[in-house]
Amino acid sequence: MKHFTSVKQLGDLSEAFKKARYVKENPFADQELGRNKTLLMIFFNSSLRTRLSTQKAAMNLGMNVIVLDVNQGAWKLETERGVIMDGDKPEHLLEAIPVMGCYCDVIGVRSFARFESKQDDYEEVILNQFIKYSGRPVFSMEAATRHPLQTFADMITIEEYKKKDRPKVVMTWAPHPKALPQAVPNSFAEGMNLTDYEFVITHPHGYELDPEFVGKAVVEYDQKKAFEGADFIYAKNWAAYSGDNYGKVLCTDRAWTVDAEKMALTDNAFFMHCLPVRRNMIVTDDVIESPQSIVIPEAANRVVSAQCVLKEILSSL
Ligand code: CP
Repeated sequence: MKHFTSVKQLGDLSEAFKKARYVKENPFADQELGRNKTLLMIFFNSSLRTRLSTQKAAMNLGMNVIVLDVNQGAWKLETERGVIMDGDKPEHLLEAIPVMGCYCDVIGVRSFARFESKQDDYEEVILNQFIKYSGRPVFSMEAATRHPLQTFADMITIEEYKKKDRPKVVMTWAPHPKALPQAVPNSFAEGMNLTDYEFVITHPHGYELDPEFVGKAVVEYDQKKAFEGADFIYAKNWAAYSGDNYGKVLCTDRAWTVDAEKMALTDNAFFMHCLPVRRNMIVTDDVIESPQSIVIPEAANRVVSAQCVLKEILSSL
């Protein structure tokens, strides 16, 4: 594995799950693999889970880790080529990226959608510049359109908790006061499309995702109908994707909040969310605190997914 930007790059899924089980049971078995190797983690946006879990995964593999918060302590970076740099950004990404590449062996990048240009977001301009100019293997720690380390952890978690071969997994939109990127729902849908699970997406009209990610999912606009018989409820907010509404909040209707009444329609489904989650907007206190909530083991599996990916990358150096 050279770069990791999508769960599609996991290859054979049953092999990937087998490797994940091995890593979970033997977290320190590959300490030599990362010896004298440095991971540089670059954050254009905030993080709790990705930062800690990826660093822990790298340490389990014997790596050294450097973390750079671009917006705290680093020079402000210009990202557009051709700009006359007479403003507040003293350094261009096109010099900064190869310089960063000089100081490490592997680079992780977090760079969310900016909602300034749908084309730039969906072409993954920032992430692809790292791939093109760093001279290092690059992996996504959530980019504009996908969050593959999260999705792989989600998939590992579903494999661990599923009670039938082909569970019904429902991804539901839920309200949030701010415009959030589509990276998590896109990526989760991409992952579910790699499986043979029954996969349903439910959201209000206007929140349709890019058809490339929806794939073979059933889209059901009636949230309660979608929940019927579900084995897993995966809640997430996202901003509108389509047309002129790209990046906009069209609805904050708390009738879409996941609550106990809706969970009662499911087949005793497990509740999942990538976190951070806004309680009583996305999900009620009682649901997220219930025994069916698996958000903590889901977050714990972020170490496993990151370690699997780093291990593949280190093995290819
Ligand atoms: N789920 C997730 O990526 O969390 P952070 O934004 O805290 O890293």
